[in-house]
Amino acid sequence: MNIGIIIYSQSGNTRKVAGKLQTRLNQSGHQSRIEEITINGKVPAQPGQFELSDIPEPGEYDAVILGSPVQAFNLNPVMRAYLDQLPAMQGIEVAFFITKQLPVKWTGGTQAVGIMKDACVAKGAVVKGAEIIFWTAGKRQERIEQAVENLVALF
Ligand SMILES: Cc1cc2nc3c(=O)[nH]c(=O)nc-3n(C[C@H](O)[C@H](O)[C@H](O)COP(=O)(O)O)c2cc1C
Repeated sequence: MNIGIIIYSQSGNTRKVAGKLQTRLNQSGHQSRIEEITINGKVPAQPGQFELSDIPEPGEYDAVILGSPVQAFNLNPVMRAYLDQLPAMQGIEVAFFITKQLPVKWTGGTQAVGIMKDACVAKGAVVKGAEIIFWTAGKRQERIEQAVENLVALF
C-alpha cells in the first residue's frame, strides 16, 4: 500500500517513532512517506495563535497514519488544527499514534486518540487502530518497537 505517515512533532519524539515506522512499513512491502505538518507561530503552539504552514494531503494515499504528541492533557493544538481542515477521506484507512510523557491514565492519551478518530470518521475514513507511547515509561525502546509492529500489522 501507499501509506502516508503524517505527523506533528515539536521536540522530535514523534518524528523518531515515525522514522522507525517508515522503515518497518517499507520492509513489509509498503511504500511509505513521512510528511510533517509545520506552523508559522510561536512554539509551543497555542490555539488560535499560529497558522498551518505545510499541510499534507491525505488523499494522496491508500492509508494514512497520523502521529502527534499530547500537550496540556489533550491532543496537540497543531494536530487539532490540521484535523479541523481535513478534506474528505472516503475509504482511506487510518491509524494513529500518540507520544506523551506521563505514564498514567487521564493525562491526555486516550482523549487525543478519540479526537483523531472522530475527526477522521467524520470525513469517511476507516479507522484501523491506535497506539499510545509513554516516553518516560521503562523499556521505552521495546514499547516503541511493539507499537510500530502493531501499527504495521494493521495494513
Ligand atoms: C507544552 C507541553 C505540554 C505537554 N503536556 C503533556 C501532557 O499533558 N501529558 C503528557 O503525558 N505529556 C505532555 N507533554 C510531553 C509530550 O507529550 C512528550 O514529550 C511528547 O513525546 C513530545 O513529542 P514531540 O517530541 O514529537 O513533540 C507536554 C509537552 C509540552 C512541550
